[in-house]
Amino acid sequence: MYILGIESSCDETAASIIKVRRQPGGKLGKLEVLSNIISSQIEIHKKYGGVVPEVAAREHVLNVLPVINEALGKAGIKPSQLSAIGITKGPGLITSLITGLETARSLAYAWKKPLVEVNHIAGHIYANFIGRKEPILFPAVILTVSGGHTTLLLMDKSQKIRILGETRDDAAGEAYDKAAKMMDLGYPGGPIVAEYANKYQKNPGDKKIILPRPMLNSLDLDFSFSGLKTALLYMLKQDKGWKKRIPQYCHEYQQAILDILIAKTVKAARKYGAKTVMVTGGVSANNELRRQMEQDVMKNLPGVFLLIPERQYTTDNAAMVAAAAVYLFDKGKTTDFRKLQVDSGLQLR
Ligand code: KG4
Ligand code: ZN
Repeated sequence: MYILGIESSCDETAASIIKVRRQPGGKLGKLEVLSNIISSQIEIHKKYGGVVPEVAAREHVLNVLPVINEALGKAGIKPSQLSAIGITKGPGLITSLITGLETARSLAYAWKKPLVEVNHIAGHIYANFIGRKEPILFPAVILTVSGGHTTLLLMDKSQKIRILGETRDDAAGEAYDKAAKMMDLGYPGGPIVAEYANKYQKNPGDKKIILPRPMLNSLDLDFSFSGLKTALLYMLKQDKGWKKRIPQYCHEYQQAILDILIAKTVKAARKYGAKTVMVTGGVSANNELRRQMEQDVMKNLPGVFLLIPERQYTTDNAAMVAAAAVYLFDKGKTTDFRKLQVDSGLQLR
């Protein structure tokens, strides 16, 4: 079957076609991405230092049909060949979500195709299912780290999801973005802070910069990043020469975030006897997170598989939406086009 995925929850308008065959035993085979088109608005929002919702929605209106057309064209698929359309229902910016969802509604009506509502965060999780030949072993502990979410989840073999812990304030991606804003480095902050951190080379004469690791040793599986952000702000205020030390500040700030993310993920995996650890979401594009998580899982969780999506499927994209839609569609979870509705605060259940 062929599934079209559409994503427009924030500042990326995206469409993708996924092909999947049923195996002889009836199970679904490997998910193959035939096209993955993303029109990013980063350049537009850069000058405001963040996403401006009304501007984003207008851009989605302009881009959504061309992006869908391109996804179909690149995959060499006609609308009549589609089995279903997967669409992001939420969470996200309401006006951005509406643009994608109303487009999906119209296309489903015109093409007479079933609709599958996808939770954006579930989409990030299913990015890990793309292209995998081997079955995924459950239970899986999943760290979802994006601009809006930092959550630890448990997935069982029926793919039911349970929340184990989440951030009490800022998300990890947001912490990166806010630090970049504080140091006037640009938007989005994640890749920029990561690049500066990478440039840092330790010298014996360096100023001592040590930031806190909030909730690192707390008994629960929750996170908190706002104290870290405030600690950085005060440190910068007290250091007249901070501009010379941007790589060092970025390095320490990033390491504080990574130490917390990795320690809590390993703790959750141990507690719940995970056979697989997954990391998903925009921050999972981060090289150091990928490298250090791999090292830690190998050392502390022998025999446990670590899955992190290919980089192109870490930040917002529609292949992940199509991937989630494949499994939901297979379970018969479709929505009548008349009943389709966005939910900007949609929770994972
Ligand atoms: O998943 P995503 O594209 O959108 C949301 O659903 O939020 O995640 C975007 C977030 C931003 O906060 C961005 O700064 C962060 O992911 N990000 C990174 C990297 N690339 C994107 N953070 C750290 N390192 C990166 N390389
Ligand atoms: Zn996202």
